[in-house]
Amino acid sequence: MLSERDLELRKLANEEIEKYKDKVEADPYRLNYHHMAPVGLLNDPNGFIQWKGTYHLFYQWMPFDTDHGAKFWGHYSSEDFVHWKHEDIALTPSDWFDENGVYSGSAIAHDDHLYLFYTGNVKDEKGERESYQCVAVSEDGVNFEKKGVSVYLPEGYTSHFRDPKVWKEGDTWYMVVGAQSEDLQGKAVLFKSEDFSEWEHLGVVTGSGEGNLGGFGYMWECPDLFELDGKHILVVSPQGLEAEGMQFANTYQSGYFAGSLDFEKVRLNHGDFRELDRGFEFYAPQTTLDEKGRRILIGWMGVPDQYEQAQPTIENHWIHCLTIPRELTWNGEQLIQTPLDELKEMRGPVILHSSITIENDQKAVRGIEGKSIELNLEFDEIENQFAIEMFQYASLSYKDGILTLSRPHFEENQKTEFRRVELAGELKSLRLFIDHSSLEVFVNEGEEVLTSRIFPQAEDEHILFTSLGTSTFSIEQWKLKGFQ
Ligand code: FRU
Repeated sequence: MLSERDLELRKLANEEIEKYKDKVEADPYRLNYHHMAPVGLLNDPNGFIQWKGTYHLFYQWMPFDTDHGAKFWGHYSSEDFVHWKHEDIALTPSDWFDENGVYSGSAIAHDDHLYLFYTGNVKDEKGERESYQCVAVSEDGVNFEKKGVSVYLPEGYTSHFRDPKVWKEGDTWYMVVGAQSEDLQGKAVLFKSEDFSEWEHLGVVTGSGEGNLGGFGYMWECPDLFELDGKHILVVSPQGLEAEGMQFANTYQSGYFAGSLDFEKVRLNHGDFRELDRGFEFYAPQTTLDEKGRRILIGWMGVPDQYEQAQPTIENHWIHCLTIPRELTWNGEQLIQTPLDELKEMRGPVILHSSITIENDQKAVRGIEGKSIELNLEFDEIENQFAIEMFQYASLSYKDGILTLSRPHFEENQKTEFRRVELAGELKSLRLFIDHSSLEVFVNEGEEVLTSRIFPQAEDEHILFTSLGTSTFSIEQWKLKGFQ
């Protein structure tokens, strides 16, 4: 049974959707094949799971504002990653243990039910934060009943303690939580449970100031720990890293440590942190293992920073979206990210140019244009410098092993800003997904990814290719159908 407060919040949120529906839907920056909130602010993907065949994807949602606040969980479901249904609101901040936000968390199947583990965010009368790891349960995957607090804050941490990710290993349940220790270092904290009800605090698996890892952030958000091809991978979003050369250029980063998890010693022995994405907007990703055995990742196409509220969509009462799903594989040295195969089902007819040469010139290529497209480029030669300019707004350019993405700053007089990444080898291929106000670039078959929001003029569909010296390449392009 939903409480009166819960029903009231649902009613208010649904009224907000109705109130702004026409305005939101008329925005030319609405996306075609990405998840968005119907109104308000969307942030982290949550509760990503395939349950009884159906994929469920929840998201952090603030229906009443385009700023952060007391979050709800919105909910999408799909059978095939191509057709998505926007379900009823999953969770509202209606209880004493989550009244200032049903914060991020994960989903797990157990006993024929779908369980959601999330963080209840509370601010007490003095404005001090409290956090509780909470549980909700569903029989049908759509209607959820809150069960209350499952894990209270253990000793040794501040109340920045959130984002539980739960998984099963043999007969034992594990939960990893993002945390800040009392000495203000970011940590990933492990719990276990034999009965799915009592959770034992095992300790820190790794964190800032642990093992060989020096100062590495004051808070770690959204941890996700899984095994992939014999490696344990900890995906995490540390806050407080300083920019270092071309790395860590955004306000906050998301990336991973790869290594091996010793469950007895509660220790992840791991190598260096590597960013998952080198674009302007990518944060708080979450993965799931589907019934086909694929490890699939979806991230938030945003970063909490001082400029996020300068995005033009806030005029129309919405902000942010999620990334396309990416399949993760391990190539022996690093994670490789590949757009999920099902996305090919969205393709219309192909436009193919098998050999294009541009020499000291800038050119359009016949048929290569549009705002809801996938573009594949394979390079035979880049003699000096090659660039793709999109809609007189964003550009991607390559020279001497370095790929640069540029776009106008959301504020600061629209001054051009850059993100740069040094590739391990030559540029061999680029796979671009463009969707009205988003750009996702998969470089050299997913060795690097750059994800960004873009806000070009709505009517501009032009893409131009520039080469200094000679560049020879092939292009394939598909228009992509939306999933709404
Ligand atoms: C990450 C995050 C999480 C938190 C959620 C609140 O973006 O700050 O740590 O649970 O957003 O919306």
